[in-house]
Formats: sequence, structure tokens, C-alpha cells
Amino acid sequence: MTTATPDTATGTLEIRPLNGPLGAEVLGLDLSRDVSLEDFRRIHRAHLQHHVLVFRNQRITPAQQVRFSARFGPLQRHVLSQFALPDHPEVLVVSNIVENGQPIGLGDAGHFWHSDLSYKERPSLGSFLHAQELPSAGGDTLFANQHRAWEDLPLALKVAVASARAEHTYTARYAELQARSPWRPNLTARQLAEVQPVVHPVVRTHPETGRKALFVSEHFTTRIVGIPEDESRALLDELFARSTRPELQYRHVWRPHDMVFWDNRSVTHLAAGTPAHLRRKLYRTTVEGDVPF
Ligand code: SIN
Repeated sequence: MTTATPDTATGTLEIRPLNGPLGAEVLGLDLSRDVSLEDFRRIHRAHLQHHVLVFRNQRITPAQQVRFSARFGPLQRHVLSQFALPDHPEVLVVSNIVENGQPIGLGDAGHFWHSDLSYKERPSLGSFLHAQELPSAGGDTLFANQHRAWEDLPLALKVAVASARAEHTYTARYAELQARSPWRPNLTARQLAEVQPVVHPVVRTHPETGRKALFVSEHFTTRIVGIPEDESRALLDELFARSTRPELQYRHVWRPHDMVFWDNRSVTHLAAGTPAHLRRKLYRTTVEGDVPF
């Protein structure tokens, strides 16, 4: 197996911005082959500029997804390791499919707005999701631009949260999700130890662009530290509503073999839902990021 990275660009790579507050399509690139340094740099810049990249028509294996994802940094493993691919523990299966009475993946990943792994000391830089099997209706993924969410806040709210810190907890809504999805396993003691609550700034600075972004989500952010519970609840509810306004959103309607790569430091996302009788399966890899500041 060769791991060498060619320096010569394909010459066919095209980055086409989508209409809207974020997102670009990446065309003319085959991720089953080595991506040249020049093309990789263009993709990296486009990711910082557009926050969500849609690579069309990628017929790639999990190993090829892992290899390309790992060019952006070390890969993270999801705490629900039972839903990882056996041969590729970095690949989380996101799927509502049940085989022999057992779920093959995390069927309700993304049910609430969130930024991936924000409950870790080092949340994800970005995530890749590669379509394996798509439903004939539904199954879209929504993304909301958190730079714009911060910039659009009224001044008084900006002042109130500019230097605030908030707790992020993986288990915050776990019981609620288990009530909806009884297949969700109880967490073992080892898994619980992996996901202890962490505290991050409410407004983070993107480590590569220097832009500020809101960094709270209805899934994982439980409270703003150092203020009374009722004030914290009211502030968070207002931030959640403002951070997911329709004008900040891009709706990704999946096409066969799409791979989407988003910046968790710039966007939050939501799985819009799939009718229970339709099958949906995607493979997710996540790249570790910095400690937010
Ligand atoms: C996720 O939140 O990582 C999954 C999103 C989706 O299934 O659309």
C-alpha cells in the first residue's frame, strides 16, 4: 500500500459555493485516489470559508474515508463503540436499520441540534458523513452558521454572553433519547467515565480564521456556569433559538454517494428525521480539534 501524497493537482477540482449562508460543492475529485497537496490545500481553504463541503459521487471504502479524514488531524472514536465498524473503530455507523432484531447503527444521531463531541475537552474540528443507503423521502441534514449567529445577536445579549462559559454533557438528554429509542444501550461505567461534563466558552474563537462563533447547543449544553439556574435556562433558550434561525441554515438533501464534511467550530447540525419504515445508513468520521478558547 502506498501512503505517498502526490504534489500534482488533478486540474479538475472545482469548488462551487451554494446559494445561502454556508456550503459549497466540491466537484471533479475522486477521493478513492490520493489527493494532491495542492488540491488538499484548496479543500482546506474552502472548508474554512464555506464551513460545509459536499463532495459529490464518492465511491469510496471506509478505509478510504478514514485515510482522507485523517489528513485533517487525529480521528476520534465515539463513546458508543458498539456502533463502530468492526474493522474501522473510527467509523461510526449512523443508521436506523435493524437487522436480526439489533440496530446496526446509531439511529437517532443528530436528533437535537449540536456540534459533534462538544462534550469532550477537545471537541471535533470537523466531521465527515458518507452516504451508504438513502431513504426515498426525508433523511436531510440541516446546518446552521454559528459565526452569523454570533454576529447577529443584539448588543445586550452579546455583552451578556461574550465571556460566559457553559457546561456540555453527553448524558444531558440521554434518558429522553432512550425513551424515544428503546434500543439505545445503557452506558457502562467505562463509557460514563469517558464522557464527564466539560466547560467551554459560550463564544469561541475559530483557531484557524480568528472568527468568533456561538458554541452552545440544545443537545449538549446544560447550563451557563456562575449564574442562577433560571437565568442560565433563559439565556440558553434564547441562544438556542437564535442560533438555529432558518436564515442561518443550509438543508442538505442527500444524493447517492455524497460525502459531506463540516466544520464543528463554525456550524451546528441536526438530522431532520427519516420515516421509520425507510432505511438510511451513513458512515461518520470525526477529526479531533483544539480546546476551545
Ligand atoms: C450526526 O449528527 O452526526 C448525524 C447527522 C445525520 O444523520 O444527518
